[in-house]
Amino acid sequence: MYLTKEETQALEGEFGEGVQTAMGLLVDVGEFYEADRLIPIDSAHISGVSYLTGGDGLIDILDFFVEKGARTKVFSTLNPSGMDRDNWESHFIDLEFATKQLHIIRNFEELGVSTTCSCTPYDFGHILSKGQHVAWAESSAITFANSFFGARTNKEDSLTVLSAAITGKTINYGFHLTENRVPNVLVNIDASLDEYADYSIVGEIVGKAFNKLPFPFGAIPLFRGISNPRPFELKGLGAALASFGTHLFHIDGITPEVEVYSDLKPSHFHDEITVTDDMVSDMYEELKPPSESIIAVIGCPNASYEEILEIHELTEGRHVKEGKEFWLFTNRAQRALAQSSSVFSDLVDRGMKILVDTCPEVTPYDKSRFSSVLTNSIKAQHYISAPSLNNLPTYILPVRRIVEEIFE
Ligand code: F3S
Repeated sequence: MYLTKEETQALEGEFGEGVQTAMGLLVDVGEFYEADRLIPIDSAHISGVSYLTGGDGLIDILDFFVEKGARTKVFSTLNPSGMDRDNWESHFIDLEFATKQLHIIRNFEELGVSTTCSCTPYDFGHILSKGQHVAWAESSAITFANSFFGARTNKEDSLTVLSAAITGKTINYGFHLTENRVPNVLVNIDASLDEYADYSIVGEIVGKAFNKLPFPFGAIPLFRGISNPRPFELKGLGAALASFGTHLFHIDGITPEVEVYSDLKPSHFHDEITVTDDMVSDMYEELKPPSESIIAVIGCPNASYEEILEIHELTEGRHVKEGKEFWLFTNRAQRALAQSSSVFSDLVDRGMKILVDTCPEVTPYDKSRFSSVLTNSIKAQHYISAPSLNNLPTYILPVRRIVEEIFE
């Protein structure tokens, strides 16, 4: 792999051991992918923050980079952690976990990372433009960066993204190359998509249809027949697709790169599917709760202010039923927007719990109280029920129906 003079100096340790380690990792991975070179990036979104998933190994790695004086070279944001930093005691988090989680976040801070822990960095100023090369981790954020903004990122893992942030470089392969961004499957939407959960359900149908096809960078759907989606609905579609390994999609007339591909003939695509209203209803039927639910979680990916306003409107004049729980996961920036009006206090008065810095998947649930979870997000449904995480049966309803179930 070709290295510039500066990259070679970094690899030889001229800029310190932290930068040397980060550069060494990128070069090793780059050679594995037979990449020709590294390319500069404009920003990074870093995952691997939760103590629940990273453990003491994560602390050791971050301690190393901090001790060696490494600093991020580009604008870098951070994914959700394992707890709400302000209210962890009331969410069943023990002191040891909290201490270690705070240590991890402090390390990132010292490395120069913005610690508004959230998987939706685009909701608080981490905005991208078409063609911009970045290194993002967190599958739903990657899919949004590639598809909604038309920026270019591979699915970084927690180590490659940290190395990219420290060196300001990423490996030139995969989605950084135009030839790997061409859609390979066609999706015709012949269904009315009216809300977030509908888009999430479409992601499940499409993901299941194509996830076995042997594409090197996953299925890349071209959607036809979607009109006027709201950005947070595309976030829901992308998060669901991401849980099947799709990190880029195009939508006719909507996403920034689609003009190049909108005239592709049906024969270009490896496979095709038409999603109908019946298919959407059948999927809802399959994923609906078998009995009354006690807890609902919204905010996978973290809820935008627009989603918070929607919930505010839907719950007007209502209150969470005795013995039930409604948890809304967002980030500090969206919470600040809600706090700047009466919206935040209204939601709290109506009995909702609003959590920041974390996500519904890495939050522990009290299994003596909750035997299942209700949500509007397919990604949450996949991960909350995962045996390696909370292992709780998780069901899907549109947010209006969730409100009916949880509020009086
Ligand atoms: Fe975000 Fe956690 Fe869902 S990181 S996309 S809220 S799984």
